[in-house]
Amino acid sequence: MTEDDAQLEARLEEQAVFEPSESFVSDANVSDPGIYDEFEETWPDCWEAAADLLDWESDYDQVLDDGNPPFYEWFTDGKLNASANCLDRHLDERGDEAAIEWVGEPVDETNRTYTYAELHREVNEFAAALRDLGVEEDDVVTMYMPMIPELPVAMLACARIGAPHSVVFAGFSADALATRMDAADSEYLVTCDGYYRRGDPLDHLAKANDGLSTVEHDTTAVVVDRLGDNDDDFGHGLADGQHDYDDLVDAQAGAEVDPVTRDAEDMLFLMYTSGTTGKPKGVKHTTGGYLSWVSWTSQAVLDIEPGDTYFCAADIGWITGHSYIVYGPLALGTTTMMYEGTPDYPDRDRLWEIVDEYDATQLYTAPTAIRAFMKWGEQYPDRHDLSSLRLLGTVGEPINPRAWKWYYKHVGDEECPVVDTWWQTETGGMMITTLPGISDMKPGSAGPPLPGVDVRIVDEVGEQISAGEAGYLTVQKPWPGMLRTLYDNDERFIDEYWAAYSDVDSDDPDDWVYFPEDGAKIDGDGYITVLGRVDDVINVSGHRLGTMEIESAIVGVEGVAEAAVVGGNHEIKGEAVYAYATTENGYEGTDELRDRIITGVEDAIGPIARPERVVFTPDLPKTRSGKIMRRLLENIADGEEIGDTSTLRNPDIVEDIQAEAGD
Ligand code: WT7
Repeated sequence: MTEDDAQLEARLEEQAVFEPSESFVSDANVSDPGIYDEFEETWPDCWEAAADLLDWESDYDQVLDDGNPPFYEWFTDGKLNASANCLDRHLDERGDEAAIEWVGEPVDETNRTYTYAELHREVNEFAAALRDLGVEEDDVVTMYMPMIPELPVAMLACARIGAPHSVVFAGFSADALATRMDAADSEYLVTCDGYYRRGDPLDHLAKANDGLSTVEHDTTAVVVDRLGDNDDDFGHGLADGQHDYDDLVDAQAGAEVDPVTRDAEDMLFLMYTSGTTGKPKGVKHTTGGYLSWVSWTSQAVLDIEPGDTYFCAADIGWITGHSYIVYGPLALGTTTMMYEGTPDYPDRDRLWEIVDEYDATQLYTAPTAIRAFMKWGEQYPDRHDLSSLRLLGTVGEPINPRAWKWYYKHVGDEECPVVDTWWQTETGGMMITTLPGISDMKPGSAGPPLPGVDVRIVDEVGEQISAGEAGYLTVQKPWPGMLRTLYDNDERFIDEYWAAYSDVDSDDPDDWVYFPEDGAKIDGDGYITVLGRVDDVINVSGHRLGTMEIESAIVGVEGVAEAAVVGGNHEIKGEAVYAYATTENGYEGTDELRDRIITGVEDAIGPIARPERVVFTPDLPKTRSGKIMRRLLENIADGEEIGDTSTLRNPDIVEDIQAEAGD
């Protein structure tokens, strides 16, 4: 194919429109197109529909209190408990149905099923254990765990006693764990001995212990025995202040803990995420608004109902897993799947095997995974009966039309609608996506904003721009699932998300606009194509990484003088980390230094931030005022033509870097 052909095909692909199948539409949870007008006219009361999906101990007074923007409050004075909503209220009707179907990575392992009654029992026992360890309402409990059932158990146990959780992705480093425990003043940790990756047991407790040793305050830890006898080689044993999970739960056999009455606005959890500058941000989500939002979107967008076997292949260590493995599906009383391992172990059909065996009804995954499946080939899904699937979803980054079509055809058999859902850690749940029972789909475009969500694409000064032009994504009205603030940092909350397009001195909510830091364009039908981050954040395999965090890890390595990190295109990961570094006097850009840089990044953040390439250069391209021209470094990473270099103080350096990077 010539370049022109490829471009033409790409353009044609962009414009293709797909209708949801008759069979899906006829049975969809939401199928009346009138919902868009209805929600616009009745906003904010339309969100009673979301709150109605929950059981409230006492009713709320007001749907929205917008008296002090941007500190919005939803369902004010309503009282509820998230654990009761995810467990207790389902017991009568479906206590014996599966709440969680867990699949471990080793194929010869016995998978585990937790019925609602069993999950309820273990959550109660662990809640009692946490209380005995001294956890009180509003104490932040950190979880540093892989995809094992004890993670949702611990989250729901915390919710039951009103202790917010802060889950740290198991792939993050010891340093990252310690930073987050310090930032959240968290004195409790739930972790485990290890888990499996591509067949090998990993020593997770060593990392947890390393992290704990640098936390600034005393800590109490609970350790789940995931590996049984298979971790003899690690042999850490439990240190002082550490407890075995099974011992704790066994000691509480049959214990019942009344769900604590929480205010709608009480914190349910913190989730740390990366930003342009400084330390990770502790995004605060609340009990009423968040739980309503994830329940409503699970129902309307993922089309979840009780009786489904819903499979989200994300990790609970990220927001996708919080909202759409744990809280949304369980609040709706469905069966949620959890898979511990990688999709290519023992072979590249593992996910399809799981879908086949469990008759999964929905699959929600990320474009990076779909690109990998596509590369591996359709023979893998073809080996299995995937006809139980009714709906497919994607999240995390823009999906290229080619990958969208592959997913639609080879996984969904052209019968399942694909929802491309745009949202963020901060939004709590989905914001822009087609409604699968109503809208046509345009591959590559997420679709219109959800009913009742006011998204506009604006220019630099906040003026709405015309269809087809690239601009900035903004949300003009609050929504129940929104973050309430950054932990302990209202000022940064305003700076990061509101200052760009709001009149920060105003107390009129109309003057407040939320800025997610994404670029986007909108077409004549109101479909939004998200173009990616406009800040210095890169999206590696759907995971958000701050370039500054990576740079500071690199300059912390002995021998490195200066570093710049950018995202370069990557076939599978979407973006990959490209690092450029200058050396200190007396050091050279050797392989040994390169290895130390990579280790430095892995230690500070985790393997996910590992640089794809480290390029040594005598200098970084800088403007006369000393600002690093990242755009040029991105061009170099992508092997593209270099833009204008006339504003550089050191234009000659560009060729040197290109030569070095081209090696
Ligand atoms: C950023 C948020 C949402 C859970 C996983 C990531 C990008 C997310 C899409 C999509 C285009 C997307 C955005 C966003 N993003 N979904 N469907 N199309 N871009 O959560 O780590 O908070 O990252 O992911 O850039 O701002 P996160």
